[in-house]
Amino acid sequence: MDKVALVTGCSSGIGFETALALAREGYHTYASMRDTKKGAKIQEMAKKENLPISVIPLDVDKPESIESAIKQIMSEKKRIDVLVNNAGYGLFGCLEDLTIQELRAQFETNFFAVVNLIQKVSPIMRSQKSGNIVNISSVAGKIGFPGSPAYISSKFAIEGLSECLRYELSPFGVNTIIIEPGVIKTNFFGSMAMPKNTKPDSPYKDITNTVVAGVKMMAEMGTHPKEVADVIVKALKEKNPLPRYPVGNDAIMFLEAKKMKTDIEFENYLKKELF
Ligand SMILES: NC(=O)c1ccc[n+]([C@@H]2O[C@H](COP(=O)([O-])OP(=O)(O)OC[C@H]3O[C@@H](n4cnc5c(N)ncnc54)[C@H](OP(=O)(O)O)[C@@H]3O)[C@@H](O)[C@H]2O)c1
Repeated sequence: MDKVALVTGCSSGIGFETALALAREGYHTYASMRDTKKGAKIQEMAKKENLPISVIPLDVDKPESIESAIKQIMSEKKRIDVLVNNAGYGLFGCLEDLTIQELRAQFETNFFAVVNLIQKVSPIMRSQKSGNIVNISSVAGKIGFPGSPAYISSKFAIEGLSECLRYELSPFGVNTIIIEPGVIKTNFFGSMAMPKNTKPDSPYKDITNTVVAGVKMMAEMGTHPKEVADVIVKALKEKNPLPRYPVGNDAIMFLEAKKMKTDIEFENYLKKELF
C-alpha cells in the first residue's frame, strides 16, 4: 500500500523541496499549488528521478478547492498519511498601518486555511488510526518583534493550535509536528505583502523599513529550504516525533536565548541583536 502525503504551497521554496524529499522517501506525494502552471519544474524533476509526485490544484483560501483536492486523493489512494501545511505568506508593516482586512487575509491563508485542511484530513487519519500533521510555523511563532505583527500573530496561532492538537489527536494515533524555520532563502521575502494604505506621515515608516531591509539582508544568507525538508523527513521517521523542530542556526540561537532568559532580558537582547 502506498504511503500518501499532501503538501500545500509546492510551487517554490519549502513546499517544493518537501514534496521532492517525501517522494524520494517513497511517499506518493500530492504536490499541491494554487497555480498548477508553476508545477512544470517539480514535474520535470519527478520525471527525471522517477518520483511518485502528482501536481494538483489547491488554493488554501478556497474551501471548495480544499474539498476537491482531498476528494481526488481519497478516490485515487484512499488514505492520507502526511499533511504538510506549508502554504503561506508574510504581511509586513506595523499594526496601525494595517487594515483589519489585510490582517484577516493574513489569518485566512496562514491560520484558517490550516484549520480547514486539518478538519478535513484528521477524520481520515483517525479512521486509519495513524497519520502525521506537519505545521510550518516559524521562529516568528515563538518570538515577537516589530514590523510584522500580522504574520507573527498568525504563526503564534499555529503554535497554539498545534499544541492543542497534540493532545486531541494523539489518542487516535495522529501526531502533530511543528516546524520552526529561521530565515530560509526562498521566494518568501520577494513576495511579502506590504500595507496598501500606509499614510505618507506614518510614524512607523522607519521601523518597518528597517525590519524589511534587515530580513531581506538575512535572507541572502538564509538556510536552504532543502534543510527544512530534511528535518521534516527526519521527524516523520521518529517513532514519537517531538512537538517542535527548529531549523537553521539562527532559529536555534534565538529560540535557545528565549528559553534561557527572562522576558525582559530577552527583549533587551533582541533589541541589541536586531536593531
Ligand atoms: N522563508 C522563510 O524565511 C520562512 C521562515 C519561517 C517560516 N516560513 C514559512 O514557510 C512556508 C513556506 O514559505 P517559503 O519560505 O517556502 O516561501 P515561498 O517560496 O514564497 O512559498 C510559499 C508558497 O505558499 C504558496 N501560497 C501562498 N498563498 C497560497 C494560497 N492561498 N493557496 C495555496 N498556496 C499558497 C505560494 O504559492 P504561489 O507561488 O502561488 O504564491 C508558494 O507556493 C510559509 O508558511 C512561511 O510562512 C518561511
